[in-house]
Amino acid sequence: MDKSEQDALKKAAGVEAAKLIENDMIAGLGTGSTVKFFVDELGRRVKEEGLHFTGVTTSSRTKVQAESYGIKIVDIDDVPQIDVTVDGADEVDQNFNGIKGGGAALLWEKIVAINSKKIVWIVDESKVVDTIGRFPLPVEVIPFGAQHVIDRLKNRGYAPTVRMNAERTPIRTDENNFIVDLHLNRIDHPQDLAEDLINTVGLVEHGLFLNMVNTVIVGDPRGPRVLT
Ligand code: 5RP
Repeated sequence: MDKSEQDALKKAAGVEAAKLIENDMIAGLGTGSTVKFFVDELGRRVKEEGLHFTGVTTSSRTKVQAESYGIKIVDIDDVPQIDVTVDGADEVDQNFNGIKGGGAALLWEKIVAINSKKIVWIVDESKVVDTIGRFPLPVEVIPFGAQHVIDRLKNRGYAPTVRMNAERTPIRTDENNFIVDLHLNRIDHPQDLAEDLINTVGLVEHGLFLNMVNTVIVGDPRGPRVLT
């Protein structure tokens, strides 16, 4: 699949998901190239259909995009709960367990997700896998003592690499933390791994999203498939 074909599938999933947002809802807006299409479609509906809702974003990037369409964005602590969150994913399996954080926003994404009544993922068909883990698993690590955390992850055989930007310096998240990618190839016991990672002091969150997602909308050449 070339990039333009993949973008068409991402867009189809994003446009389909935008139908789920109704007037006066509080909507969680994810992060990434698929979500960008979703937010574009919401912007179109705001302009052409007078849709009005409040958004909570999972990254500063999405906030800038949403506000450019006049969408009202509030802080997550200003709302009791989010009605529905639409986000992308890097991999998802048949049980709707998956990996996120390819766009370095996993910490805010997980905080928004756990405070949402409903979670919808939008993906192109290449993201649907039998076993997760081929995509390197991102974890977010605070700068203080980061090298010790990385050494620990290495000793456990997780093959960590610090994610770099184009200037060859470590990328920083919206919380000014590092992203470390774990090269695992396959994850057979995601729950055990999640527990091991979250018990690592200095590692504030991991990109395993387990037993959280209600619906996956898959961009498919025959039309978007809504899996529940
Ligand atoms: C950001 C994410 C993204 O949702 C994920 O990486 C998918 O991105 P894309 O839609 O660009 O493939 O988890 O942290």
